[in-house]
Amino acid sequence: MKSILGIGNALTDVLAVLPDDTLLKKYHLPKGSMQHVDMETGDRIWEALKEYGVKYVPGGSAANTLTCTAIFGMPSGFIGKIGNDDLGNLFKSTMEQYGVKAQMLYSRKSSGRCMVFITGANAERTFADYMGATLELGPDDLSIEQFQGYDYFHIEGYLVQNQDLISKAARLAKQAGCTISIDMASYNVVESNDAFFHNLVENYVDIVFANESEARAFTKKEPREAIDELARLCDIAVVKVGKDGSMVKQGDEYHYIPAWPAATIDATGAGDTYAAGFLYAHSLGMPLKVCGEIGSVIAAKVVEVIGTKIDVPRWKAAKKEIRELIAANSK
Ligand SMILES: Nc1ncnc2c1ncn2[C@@H]1O[C@H](COP(=O)(O)OP(=O)(O)OP(=O)(O)O)[C@@H](O)[C@H]1O
Ligand SMILES: [Mg+2]
Repeated sequence: MKSILGIGNALTDVLAVLPDDTLLKKYHLPKGSMQHVDMETGDRIWEALKEYGVKYVPGGSAANTLTCTAIFGMPSGFIGKIGNDDLGNLFKSTMEQYGVKAQMLYSRKSSGRCMVFITGANAERTFADYMGATLELGPDDLSIEQFQGYDYFHIEGYLVQNQDLISKAARLAKQAGCTISIDMASYNVVESNDAFFHNLVENYVDIVFANESEARAFTKKEPREAIDELARLCDIAVVKVGKDGSMVKQGDEYHYIPAWPAATIDATGAGDTYAAGFLYAHSLGMPLKVCGEIGSVIAAKVVEVIGTKIDVPRWKAAKKEIRELIAANSK
């Protein structure tokens, strides 16, 4: 079985269901918004939330993808930075529990967390992110030994904001002979790092995952034309269009893949699990269309649960469907 290494933000979601908007007002958080907060505010908010009973869910985009590839049975590793604290320990031990080899680096800053205020009858979510230790991950943290022995290297697009880090990571991954994939992560990261992103995709990336708005930010085109352009720049391009499915292209080979049927309640994590399914199938040598289908099968499971963790019955169902797809496409 081929192996995969990923690099990303080691972030833990801290979720609290609140009786009213009092705390939102106290910390000047507009309902439904996403704000970055400094350490002091981050610590005060966390303390305040604890009174309501909090739930901790270690996550981050690439970490979610690598957890998923580990569950598929691929040897999976993760590089990220945490603080020397309980939240960091929880992140590391949770990754390990799922079978991921957590190559954690340590910062003097406290561990990154995404504090989620859940309020009102519709369970509306307001986010206060404290990035902390995650932002301290830098090029000096990386060396070739971390990459050796891995077949794939998956990059979380959010990290492209640290261009020196990603330049070095991409160079080391190439040197180690890895197939390099990237999830573009967010249209504003793509917009604000335009030239760097283009250079990265053209010269290092083999497989690119973009959703509609990221593909538009990168190419200034709508999905069907955007994928043509992306596929000219790297080996495989994937453009995801949410409940409308995805498109995959390699050279002149193009497929549209409808979304798998799902009783959607929360789309969080769809992109991360899609990437895991796609890469797993790719590592088994599956045809391009089947890679997209396997991504779609597993993404359709995560949208049926709240949050990013697929429950055991759904994993069982997904693995069965995926085994059947693989068997039907193996010679
Ligand atoms: N409502 C849904 N029902 C079934 N499948 C879905 C649904 N939403 C998303 N998917 C599947 O997940 C894939 C990725 O979703 P999406 O296009 O939202 O990616 P994304 O924007 O990167 O997601 P994320 O917000 O997790 O980063 C889609 O191509 C589709 O196959
Ligand atoms: Mg995404």
